[in-house]
Amino acid sequence: MKKVNKICCIGAGYVGGPTMSVIASQCPEITVTVVDINQARIDQWNDSDLDNLPVYEPGLKEIVERTRGKNLFFSTEVDKAIDEAEIIFISVNTPTKTYGKGKGQAADLKFVELCARNIAKVAKSDKIVVEKSTLPVRTASAIKSILENTGNGVKFEILSNPEFLAEGTAVEDLLKADRVLIGGDETPSGQEAKDTLSSIYAHWLPKERILQTNVWSSELSKLVANAFLAQRVSSINAISALCERTDANVAEVSRAIGTDSRIGPKFLNASVGFGGSCFQKDILNLVYISRSFGLNEVADYWEQVIIMNDYQKRRFAENIISTLYNTVSGKKIVFFGWAFKKDTNDTRESAAINIADALLEEKAEIVVYDPKVSADRIYADLDYLETRSPEENRKLLTVVTDPMDAVQDAHAIAILTEWDEFKAYSWETIFKKMLKPAFVFDGRRLLSKEDMEAKGFQYYKIGQS
Ligand code: NAD
Ligand code: UDX
Repeated sequence: MKKVNKICCIGAGYVGGPTMSVIASQCPEITVTVVDINQARIDQWNDSDLDNLPVYEPGLKEIVERTRGKNLFFSTEVDKAIDEAEIIFISVNTPTKTYGKGKGQAADLKFVELCARNIAKVAKSDKIVVEKSTLPVRTASAIKSILENTGNGVKFEILSNPEFLAEGTAVEDLLKADRVLIGGDETPSGQEAKDTLSSIYAHWLPKERILQTNVWSSELSKLVANAFLAQRVSSINAISALCERTDANVAEVSRAIGTDSRIGPKFLNASVGFGGSCFQKDILNLVYISRSFGLNEVADYWEQVIIMNDYQKRRFAENIISTLYNTVSGKKIVFFGWAFKKDTNDTRESAAINIADALLEEKAEIVVYDPKVSADRIYADLDYLETRSPEENRKLLTVVTDPMDAVQDAHAIAILTEWDEFKAYSWETIFKKMLKPAFVFDGRRLLSKEDMEAKGFQYYKIGQS
């Protein structure tokens, strides 16, 4: 097993940043350098004010404060970091393709391929190259073929080590991982590489949580884990629609089924729909791969998870419109939350984006408050849809920093992220400020129906009639 002195991670995003910070904090003898081509992002990681880090995660800034400048470095000197490292993690983005073959479904691997080519060009000594990004099955063979054809005699071992952290709990997920998955070749050198990477995680995780598999199982397991998790959310969201038509309460149903140890209680919270950069992208990828092997029934089965999620978001927006007497034109609707879940500033695929788009099409006036998301991010999310001009988006939607100002003379509030602070608000004060009847549409089941109705609100809660 090789001794590791230097690690490099290409990609300083939501995965690369927190993962490498935790490795640096747990392995003080290893120098960890995180590189990115995005200078602004690296500057943020190096900002002396730790509140300006590009990724907000509970506990992250404390770790960065302890390690940065000691054995954790953020830099744009990609080639230098590759050259010096014994292990190189590739943690760049792998978005859904927006062009060409597989458009709208397949993963766009251009950033990963660029990394592989760069490693091939720069490396002068043997390296372990680790796929940390989520990649379609058999990507390792593409990376291998690029690396093996450099002609400079350097030996590469390719490992798949997908990341299972969830945003908002990234630090805890990394420190207390249920498992770490390491896939690699079943050759002596492949085994040595797997053991070398395992030894890093063994600094803080028990050995039985470090699973070694072949490379294809590892790549596929990542897609499958996300598909199963998202499937649970879509399943309970499907039931939430049924609960609203009957007198069943989705929370009671979740509890009743979740206490069955075969089902388990987690990931059964009905919501306005799942978001985040992974679930949709990875399921679409699974659908694409299945279809490309002619497995149409398999593809259709998983695609339904996305179809149900789109339905849940649409249903929520349509309910707002029909409840507000079939018109929201000129009505002030306040959004509490824009992030795709609490405790993150990430908004990728957030349900709030689609809900806003649907209401803006009906000429609603939207006011957004989110404790961690900037106005620039919110407008960028809307502009990206290209449903209307950027000017129109800015005319119809405003972003505020004070939630109490936002609710003055509002027709309705939509709770779209489950930020804890929303529970602590003085809802009596909010009621007084709003126009009557005062509507609250709770897409996160954050508040009590009885309490809210007692305070005078017309309160709608996902999954409860
Ligand atoms: P991200 O967009 O936050 O970060 C990716 C970074 O890579 C960007 O800063 C980008 O500038 C940089 N980059 C792209 N090409 C580069 C290149 N050639 N050289 C140097 N830097 C380059 O993405 P993320 O959320 O960190 O996700 C990264 C990967 O991890 C994806 O494959 C994703 O599916 C997977 N993943 C994400 C999560 C999550 O919660 N976000 C969880 C598990 C797995
Ligand atoms: C997910 C996976 O959990 C993680 O293992 C993987 O590495 C990346 O993708 P993430 O997207 O960061 O993590 O957050 P997650 O907690 O899974 O939530 C995803 C979405 O599902 C959020 O919008 C969340 O609000 C929603 N959700 C989750 C529900 O609506 N109900 C639930 O019961 C759980």
